[in-house]
Amino acid sequence: MTAIDDSIGSARSHGPSVQDLLAADSREVPLSLRDSSYVPQGKVDVPKIRYTSAEFAALENEYMWTKTWQMACTVDELAQVGDHVVYDVADQSVIVVRTRDGSIKAYHNSCLHRGTKLRTEDGRVASFRCPFHGWRWDLDGNLTELPAEWDFPQVWQQPDSCLPQAQVAEWCGFVFVNLDPEATPFNEVASKLVEHFDRDFRMENRYKAFHAVKEVPANWKVCMEAFAEGYHVIATHPQILEFAGDANSEYSIWPESPFVTRFVNGFGIQSPHLGNLTEQQVADAYLEFSARSTRGSVAVPDGKSAREVVAEVFRSFMGPMFGVDLSTASDSEMLDAHLYHLFPAFAPWAGIGQSLVYRWRPGPTPDTCFMDVIRMMPVPDGQQRPQPAPIQRLRLEQSWHEAEGMGGLASVFEQDMENLPKVQLGLKMTAKRAAKGLKFGLYQEARMRLIHRHIDDTIIEGLTADGRSLDAVEPYLVPEG
Ligand code: FES
Ligand SMILES: [Fe+2]
Repeated sequence: MTAIDDSIGSARSHGPSVQDLLAADSREVPLSLRDSSYVPQGKVDVPKIRYTSAEFAALENEYMWTKTWQMACTVDELAQVGDHVVYDVADQSVIVVRTRDGSIKAYHNSCLHRGTKLRTEDGRVASFRCPFHGWRWDLDGNLTELPAEWDFPQVWQQPDSCLPQAQVAEWCGFVFVNLDPEATPFNEVASKLVEHFDRDFRMENRYKAFHAVKEVPANWKVCMEAFAEGYHVIATHPQILEFAGDANSEYSIWPESPFVTRFVNGFGIQSPHLGNLTEQQVADAYLEFSARSTRGSVAVPDGKSAREVVAEVFRSFMGPMFGVDLSTASDSEMLDAHLYHLFPAFAPWAGIGQSLVYRWRPGPTPDTCFMDVIRMMPVPDGQQRPQPAPIQRLRLEQSWHEAEGMGGLASVFEQDMENLPKVQLGLKMTAKRAAKGLKFGLYQEARMRLIHRHIDDTIIEGLTADGRSLDAVEPYLVPEG
C-alpha cells in the first residue's frame, strides 16, 4: 500500500462505535470482532470509466479474474466421486471435481482437440467426454480415449495430453480456485479471513440452505460496492434507521492482510441520523421488522439495552429453529452484520443471525454482472447434514422475490437493485467527461478505494509479466493520492 497521509479518513460519526457496542455485550465477544484496524486509502476521485469501458473489462478478465482466488462451490456439492461443478467467470470456465482418491481438482473446461467446452452443467460423471469428437479424460485429467488415435500420434499417450489444472484450496466448507498456477497460496492471500473464521466463526457445521444467482444490470463493481457500506441506508433502506447503526458502522483494513477487509453494522441501536428514540422504541421497531418474535413487544427493563433484549429474543427463537444451543452467543453475533470481503469478490458474513455469503462475477458486457446469494445454516445438533440447496438462476428482468426461500431479504435486496441500473446509466453518461470520477467517502468507502488499487496492481502485474506496455491500462488507473 502506498504511504498516505494518516489523517485522511480519521473523522467518525457521532453515536456509539461498534467497539463500544462490543464492550457492552451481555456475553463474551469473539476475539475476531475486537480485531479492527484502519489504514487510510487516500482521497482521489476514482475514474468512472473503470465501470463502463469494454477495454478495461477485458483487462480485468484477462489479468484479474485469471489470477485471483474465487469461491467455486461448497465442499458438500462434491460429496461423491465424479461430482463436479462448472465454475464460469468472465470468459473462463473450470470443472471442479471430486476425484477417485478423494481429493478435489479443477480443470480448465476446454477440450485439447478443438477447444470445445467439456462440461456445461454440474452433475456426476465417471469421466469427461467431449461432445464434439469424443475425446475422453478420466477424473484425474488423463486422456483415456481418442477416437482414431492413429491420426493423433502427437497427442495420444503424450505427457501434455492431460487437462490443464487450476489451483484449488478447500477452506471453511468452500472450494476456491485460482487459474494462475503461480498464484500465492489461498491461506496467505486470505490470512485474516482464515484466522478469524477458523478461530471464531467456523462454518464446518453449516450447510448450504439457499443459493440464488441473478444477472444484475450493472458492472460487477457497482453491484459489489452496493453491499459494502452502511452509508446508503439513510436513502435506500430508511425503514431500518430506527434499529440500525448505519453511519457509525465500522470498516476494517488490516495492513498485514490487505486482500481481506470487513464491514460491521451494529443493529439494535438507532441510527445516528435519528437520536431521539427510547430503547423500548428501538426494540419494538427491530422486532416488528424482523418478524422473528411472535410475542409482539418485549419490555426493555430499566438499565437494559434494546440490544440485550432483542438478542435474547433472537437466541430463544433461533436456537430451537436451528436446533442448536445459542446461550453463549454474543449479542453482536445474534444481531449485527459482520461482512468480510476477500478480493476480488467473495463476501461471507460472520455471526449467527446473519449467515449469508455473496459472490460477484462480471457479465457478458461491462454493464451487467452476476451476484450469488447463499445462506449457510447450522446443521441441527445430532442430525445428518442436509443436501446442499440447488442453485436458482434468475434472469436480468427477474426479481429476487422469485427466488424461493429468500424470505424478507428479497425486499431489502430489491431496494438495492433499484439503484444499480441508475448508477450504471449515470456512469455511462458521464464516464468520458469523468476526469473527476467517483468521490468515495474517506472512511466509509475506503475499502472500495483499496479494492480498486488491487485491481490496478493485478492488471499491471499481468501486463508486465506478458511483456506488454502499460499504455493499455494507463487511462483507467486510479491516480496516486
Ligand atoms: S473438440 Fe473435443 S473432441 Fe474434438
Ligand atoms: Fe443495501
